[in-house]
Amino acid sequence: MGAEQKLFERYGRTIPAGTLIFRENEPGQDMYIIQGGSVKITKRVRDIEKTLVVLDKGEFFGEMSILNDKPRSASAYAVEDCDLLVIDRRTFEAMIKGNPEIALRIIKKLAARLQEADHQIENLMIKDNTGRVVNHIARLVNTAGGARGTMVELGVTEEDIANMVGIPRDQVEAILAKLAKAKMVDLSTGRLVVADAEQLGRFTRYLDMKDSFGELM
Ligand code: CMP
Repeated sequence: MGAEQKLFERYGRTIPAGTLIFRENEPGQDMYIIQGGSVKITKRVRDIEKTLVVLDKGEFFGEMSILNDKPRSASAYAVEDCDLLVIDRRTFEAMIKGNPEIALRIIKKLAARLQEADHQIENLMIKDNTGRVVNHIARLVNTAGGARGTMVELGVTEEDIANMVGIPRDQVEAILAKLAKAKMVDLSTGRLVVADAEQLGRFTRYLDMKDSFGELM
């Protein structure tokens, strides 16, 4: 039996799509490592359920409660059927103490999350909704490694974008329709495709200037 299978025998749990794995503010005793499927992390802000991130195979979640002894900072849902390793506090601490490589991977991941949270703050500071949607798409293009002059398939839907930037769906639809008319994006498959990463970059810079100096012009 392979190492991964052995781990699954010991700690594994299969969770059907749509299951609430835990809810924000509950006490937490376990952390989870995704071996298959994907998990959505959401947070309630006023009355809106905002998606913070969608995590896939190899990623982990639920570590914050057991590291800082606080209630769950967000909720977790299985987006697809998921295979998860469920690790209790004692095992997690033993894993970190006994294996510096695991500790380093977790620190790197937490640093990346902090950087992502900084980007979300930057996005929230943009005054105009078109600017926020375009800034978010440009960031997805960067993360996907979109090169100059190329088409980039992002795999996100209008609803994903609305959830990520916290703008009502109908407004996001109207903004994307304008971008599609200008041939910057294509949504004909239901998933966002950026037609030309460089053109979108130029448009982002234009909107940034407008956001900063708009009142002077
Ligand atoms: P915990 O607070 O135990 O429960 C919710 C989990 O969601 C949290 O641990 C993290 O694992 C994860 N989480 C919270 N905020 C973020 C974020 N901004 N980005 C990615 N994951 C997050």
